[in-house]
Amino acid sequence: MRTPLIAGNWKMHKTLPEARELVGAIRTGIEQLPDGRVDVVICPPYQLLFPMAKAIAGSRIMMGAQNAHFESQGAFTGEVSVPMLKDTGCTHVIIGHSERRQLFGEDNALLAKKVRAVVNAGLTAIYCVGETLEERERNETQQVVDRQIREVLAREIAPERLVIAYEPVWAIGTGRTATPSQAQEVHAFVRGKLQGIYDQRAADSVRILYGGSVKPGNAGELLAQPDIDGALVGGACLVAADFLAIIRAVFH
Ligand code: 13P
Repeated sequence: MRTPLIAGNWKMHKTLPEARELVGAIRTGIEQLPDGRVDVVICPPYQLLFPMAKAIAGSRIMMGAQNAHFESQGAFTGEVSVPMLKDTGCTHVIIGHSERRQLFGEDNALLAKKVRAVVNAGLTAIYCVGETLEERERNETQQVVDRQIREVLAREIAPERLVIAYEPVWAIGTGRTATPSQAQEVHAFVRGKLQGIYDQRAADSVRILYGGSVKPGNAGELLAQPDIDGALVGGACLVAADFLAIIRAVFH
């Protein structure tokens, strides 16, 4: 019922020649995928959006940005707006990644504006939630994720334009993955919260991705969980063979 979605968050990686090589290899690999449904999104840094749109043209690969400003234009030096991203061919925007929250001070109030800006422009927001190690150890995971959802999402945000990514901060770039059951537990909790905001049907239609040290070796068991509908991949998406292996794990 929910088409699996594998998204690659390139973070601040790749020059233009490197990006061309990576995306060329991903494109070739995707053409050889078995039959079946999977959505694939690459999220390169801003400077690559126009050339990468060209590089994926005519393929099934979609493109997302990693951040956006909530205003459509104005005196905001260094920022990029959603209409500008739309110009490049982006269909998705990652909002509220833990690196944005932790390193750039983005809080739920700001993220609420950003998610609305993305969805109102007709793009899909990949909204990230997740607890820190300290919060998990204090048994506050559900409380933290509940706030990240309650203070940002609302009924007026079209559920068809929403993807949630659960990324436990302690699992990002650490090689330490949540176990499939740890992740499933939070995913089911998130789906329950979506049901509270929307209704059962909408909650069942929203894809909830897992992110945090997803690799070819663990993707299969994570994706096999009933409420894990895909992955938001960091490090492993920078290597075409690894990203493709994660995409192929959808079909196992
Ligand atoms: P890693 O896959 O490198 O742990 O990064 C996950 C992530 O932050 C994706 O957004």
